[in-house]
Amino acid sequence: MILHQPRIKNLRSVSLSLCASVVIGLLSLAACTAERRKSDAELGLTPQQSAGRIVYDAYCDRCHEPYSSRGKQGPSLKGIFKRSFLPLSGLPANDERVAEIVKFGRSKMPGYGQTLTQQQVEDLLVYLHTL
Ligand code: HEC
Repeated sequence: MILHQPRIKNLRSVSLSLCASVVIGLLSLAACTAERRKSDAELGLTPQQSAGRIVYDAYCDRCHEPYSSRGKQGPSLKGIFKRSFLPLSGLPANDERVAEIVKFGRSKMPGYGQTLTQQQVEDLLVYLHTL
């Protein structure tokens, strides 16, 4: 009987450390998938681009990823002006078309013509060019 006790204790500590490593493993996995947000300085944004980023974070970020190609409710806007055409609608990727989408919306996307000032839309476009 007395001889068995250490074995049981050992088993418990083994299963405890197993649990701990599973928890640590899961935590580090979560840390890997969550990308760290870069500061405006790290991105090298000008004051106008920073102003546009504030607009983006407030009105666009919940539906569009800026720095990952992952889709949210809407398509990713990463590299939006790097291609000639917008990926989903196939419209030309230029300031005019994108400003129209922002102001008037498209299908499930609401329009922001009544919410944003002309200056905010301009700042936003300048920021979108950095993506
Ligand atoms: C409620 C979610 C939502 C918000 C907020 C939102 N969008 Fe959208 N956006 C969408 C959806 C959904 C689409 C796809 C529309 C379609 O089916 O054509 C879209 C499409 C777009 C497109 C066209 C993409 C393409 O490939 O044709 C652009 C550009 C765009 N959004 C920019 C913005 C910007 C800039 C903002 C912030 C002012 C914004 N969106 C806010 C949901 C959203």
